[in-house]
Amino acid sequence: MTKLPYPALPVPNRWDRRGLPGWTYHSSELFELERSALFLTHWQIVGHENDIPAPGDWLTFDLLGERALIMRGRDGIVRAFHNLCRHRGARVVDGAQGHCKGALVCPFHGWVYNLDGSLRGPARPESFDDEMDRSQFGLKPIELQRFHGFLLIRFKPGPQADLAQLFAPYDADFAAYRAGEILPASGWYGKIELPVNWKSVRDVDNEGYHVAMAHPALQDLYGRTYRDLQLAGGLSISHGEFGDAPARRWSVKKYLKHHEPQDWLPSHLKNSWTYYGLFPNAVFAFTPESIQYYQEIPLNTGTTALTGRIYRRPDETRRMRIARYLAYRIDRETSEEDQQLSIWSNESMASDAFEEFHLSDLEYGVRRHHDGLRTVLPVMTLDEAPPDGKMAAENTRLQGDAPE
Ligand code: FES
Ligand SMILES: [Fe+2]
Repeated sequence: MTKLPYPALPVPNRWDRRGLPGWTYHSSELFELERSALFLTHWQIVGHENDIPAPGDWLTFDLLGERALIMRGRDGIVRAFHNLCRHRGARVVDGAQGHCKGALVCPFHGWVYNLDGSLRGPARPESFDDEMDRSQFGLKPIELQRFHGFLLIRFKPGPQADLAQLFAPYDADFAAYRAGEILPASGWYGKIELPVNWKSVRDVDNEGYHVAMAHPALQDLYGRTYRDLQLAGGLSISHGEFGDAPARRWSVKKYLKHHEPQDWLPSHLKNSWTYYGLFPNAVFAFTPESIQYYQEIPLNTGTTALTGRIYRRPDETRRMRIARYLAYRIDRETSEEDQQLSIWSNESMASDAFEEFHLSDLEYGVRRHHDGLRTVLPVMTLDEAPPDGKMAAENTRLQGDAPE
């Protein structure tokens, strides 16, 4: 197996193999805390520079009552704003993605915004007093950073570092894949809604112990070499190499037949599918011919949307396109398998007979993710849910107890 160039943390000899207590998967009070202290304060992937190449191109991203508009200005600069008219709060654009010519016109009363978010003017300006200072009514900005072309936003300041620092262990690989140059592949990733708490989706995705049993195609492709590595800062890398043995399944045979060796990739990425995790809810996934990211967007305590986007290489050959399609078929099959596992995993949390996880060393990634959650929300360390109405206070009290 190829030696991997990542600063992986060792799995301890002895560790607490339990997962989070069952109540954390169905508590609406905890969900409110996850909204404010986790999702709105942690980096969220919203797309790639090349999703919005021209001035006026925009994307939206909705998360737990907040809504973002990411738009390229006339000056070529990409900015993020709250998709919230400063008059009475209507969405200034509607839909997942689009293009606006020259100016944004709010669909409610017609206030007009420039592509840099500044207010050009209200409709019927004479109906406002002379004092109205237009410069005070631009769309509200949201923090936006880039990593090799990917665009990430954060609704509120939070504990994670700037992306250049946070993603430093990913930098060489993203540069090698020339991630800044990728282009959107036709078709939106789609949006699947699952009747589960978002953590059950992540619990399934955070370990490769289940690959051999639950994912026959992935097992056939790279099961013999698959590794999950944990890195500092809530990062994780999963890596599987293919081509060391003949495939048995149709989709994998076809993929291996059409896969075209990409000489420009470093040896550890040449014949591998590699996944780069971002705490708390997203993953970038690269194969030699395709790139995607996927993320869980919680909608409420018991409903989660699975979403993401797919990209292709700018110099894609016909053979690469076929291999990319075949990789997508394997992924789609895998995702369907995981969706079922998430549902079963989530259901168990409501059973009186369920005690707790007993995790294998191959599931250490689940533990690391839970540790990250417990650091942000120490109330998750409690075996029982706090009494009704006491979740936030109890969490604040435990934060006070946390060692510096
Ligand atoms: S809410 Fe946008 S113009 Fe009134
Ligand atoms: Fe899986």
